[in-house]
Amino acid sequence: MSVPFCSLKYAHDQIKYEAEKAMEGVYRRGQFILGTELEAFEHELATYGGTQYCIGVANGLDALYLSLHLLGIGPGDEVIVPAHTYIASWLAITRTGAKVVPVDANSGNMLMDTSLVTAAITGNTKAIMPVHLYGAACDMSQLTAIAKENNLYIVEDNAQAHGATWKEKKTGSFGDCNATSFYPTKNLGALGDGGAITTDSKALAESAFSLRNYGSTDRFTNPVVGINSRLDELQAAVLRVKLKYLDEWNELRRVIAQSYLKQLKGVGDIILPTASYASVYHLFVIRTQYREELRSFLFQKGIGTTVHYPIPPHLQGAYDSMSFKKGVFPVSEKLAESVLSLPMWPGLEEEQVNWVVKQIKKFFEGK
Ligand SMILES: Cc1ncc(COP(=O)(O)O)c(C=O)c1O
Repeated sequence: MSVPFCSLKYAHDQIKYEAEKAMEGVYRRGQFILGTELEAFEHELATYGGTQYCIGVANGLDALYLSLHLLGIGPGDEVIVPAHTYIASWLAITRTGAKVVPVDANSGNMLMDTSLVTAAITGNTKAIMPVHLYGAACDMSQLTAIAKENNLYIVEDNAQAHGATWKEKKTGSFGDCNATSFYPTKNLGALGDGGAITTDSKALAESAFSLRNYGSTDRFTNPVVGINSRLDELQAAVLRVKLKYLDEWNELRRVIAQSYLKQLKGVGDIILPTASYASVYHLFVIRTQYREELRSFLFQKGIGTTVHYPIPPHLQGAYDSMSFKKGVFPVSEKLAESVLSLPMWPGLEEEQVNWVVKQIKKFFEGK
């Protein structure tokens, strides 16, 4: 049996008719940029996520960068970010000219260790960027309290957690400005690049609408320097269709996660992700000291796995100039050596999950 790490086939087969109809509508109308599909999608995503405004942009990195820029963050400022994240979270901060201030991960939930945040605050800190990694929400009660106490902004990186909640409130609705990505494999994925900013502030939303479109207020008036970062009509049309299925697909992910959690308990040296109904399991990430061996064993059995992420941002060449030493973020570095993402997508069948589990158990029999 072959089990790919990720497949969009089930979801795309399910919505084929609706998605094609939506795309055909855009094709027929002939308005491809900044049209009615985008406007409707922005309204629908804001309603779904519980924010006043949503601004569609070209990708998640732009959404993060613009969110920080909108809050006035730039050179001389510092932003606190998890050491264990995808590098895009860091790159957005760097692009504003501000300094990245990483905090190590919590070895329990693999998210930003909230107990380390206060110590990372300096006179130059302007914001905290929680990343809801793998589909699990950061402790937003603690982080909002810390931000309030220290007069800091929060910019959530919600790229991996569409539909996740913290105390029944959706992630992506806590911060002053929040960012998400619609990269095709995300829980809510486009058929290409896409991203969005969410906020409750009318003033920030108006600035975002302008900044994403060359800093223009109307077609030929540009009071500020903006960029070109727009979510196009075809993507918005498909995302509108997919948004209707997001909760159903997240539920399927949860069922798969429950099965892995139940069946992999106590197997070998595996550390399972913290069980949480509020997680939307963008990824199902286990930890084992035998990661590479297990990965190639599963590969030989036709099972795809991935590592999110093998090299932490602070040890990437991109951040050489900050001279981080190996060992400064021990938990994140240990995670980079031991995390393994198992197959996870809506439509992954019970039989396939059982097969993956069976092979993992077989691998550990010899250990
Ligand atoms: C946590 C996180 N932040 C930011 C991004 C950047 O999103 P994009 O690829 O749309 O630029 C991604 C996804 O790739 C991500 O996983």
